[in-house]
Amino acid sequence: MKEIVLSGIRATGQLHLGNYYGALSKFVKMQNDYNSYFFIADLHALTTHPDPKILHSNVKSILSEYLAAGLDPEKSTIFVQSDIPEIAEMYLLLNMHVGIGELMRTTSFKDKARKQLGITSDSDNIESEIIGNDSNKRVNAGLLTYPTLMAVDILIHRAHKVPVGKDQEQHLEMTRRFARRFNAFYGVDYFPEPTNFDFGGAPIKVPGLDGSGKMGKSEGNCIYLLDEDKVLRKKVMRAVTDEGPQAPNSPMTEPIVNLFTLLELVSAPDVVEHFRNAYNDCSIRYGDLKKQLAEDILKVTTPIRERILDIQNDDAYLSRVVRMGAEKARESAAKTLADVREIMGIKKF
Ligand code: TYM
Repeated sequence: MKEIVLSGIRATGQLHLGNYYGALSKFVKMQNDYNSYFFIADLHALTTHPDPKILHSNVKSILSEYLAAGLDPEKSTIFVQSDIPEIAEMYLLLNMHVGIGELMRTTSFKDKARKQLGITSDSDNIESEIIGNDSNKRVNAGLLTYPTLMAVDILIHRAHKVPVGKDQEQHLEMTRRFARRFNAFYGVDYFPEPTNFDFGGAPIKVPGLDGSGKMGKSEGNCIYLLDEDKVLRKKVMRAVTDEGPQAPNSPMTEPIVNLFTLLELVSAPDVVEHFRNAYNDCSIRYGDLKKQLAEDILKVTTPIRERILDIQNDDAYLSRVVRMGAEKARESAAKTLADVREIMGIKKF
């Protein structure tokens, strides 16, 4: 039997190069060899209160981007999280085995809670602020239990492999812990412990163009798959650099490491080598590097963008894909939920 792979992306806007290289491009490669489930996490998106008027169009745009990047509904089960009511029930059941302390210690929870409370300091000790806050600035419980919901997404299909970027590793580690805990508590060997998957390499973090940190929507430093040529070139040409190497073979500063990381993702090895040598012998011109980088990114994104524009208005096709996906995903989810109910002792009269 083929191993099961599952992954999802939150419906919070257009996909950027981080989503593409950290996740989507791997989904496309994996769908041939695995029993694959790929979904759009619209329930997770609710934790940050999207405008109800745009949530559905965000779901639609990610679905179009999945298909445009090469996900094939004949090979993969492609679905929308909220179409699977079994997820909500299992989320309730699994929460009985999840500690609020471990949830509060999750890095992404602390970051987002800080944002929701408007705290700018890096202080780790935000627990007292959460408990003591007034009702205008509350941290919602859905945000706290985000890792439970993510674990359920994975466990409800008893997935083995979960291709995600580096920033999701802590959530995946928690999923493994919850699976182990459930198995041990009920004395069963039911849930596999899922692992990240990166074709033999380490999980990646695609950097932004602003000199530090990862590419991310809330960081405002993204190159989107849908960016038009002019916009994309402009973004790349404006990327932060430094004053250039001052001596042969000097170590690179973070903004330059980031540019090379992007170059390695999109350019041919000899191109990367050429600019590395130029950096090392101090002949590099960052403008040339950026021009090359922009053109090589466009080689990847342009065909995808063209397909997105084709697909995104084909409502009949999009709804056919998700209806077919929901049917298959519900079948698998319902089977697991029935087993879990039985394991936990919930029986029908
Ligand atoms: P999300 O929507 O934030 O990101 C989707 C995927 O893109 C990856 N990613 C990156 N990878 C490398 N470099 C970056 N700069 C970068 N930015 C984003 C993320 O690692 C992720 O793989 N919690 C998940 C969604 C989710 C999920 C799941 C994933 C919900 N349930 C079950 C897998 C399995 C999230 O917020 O991803």
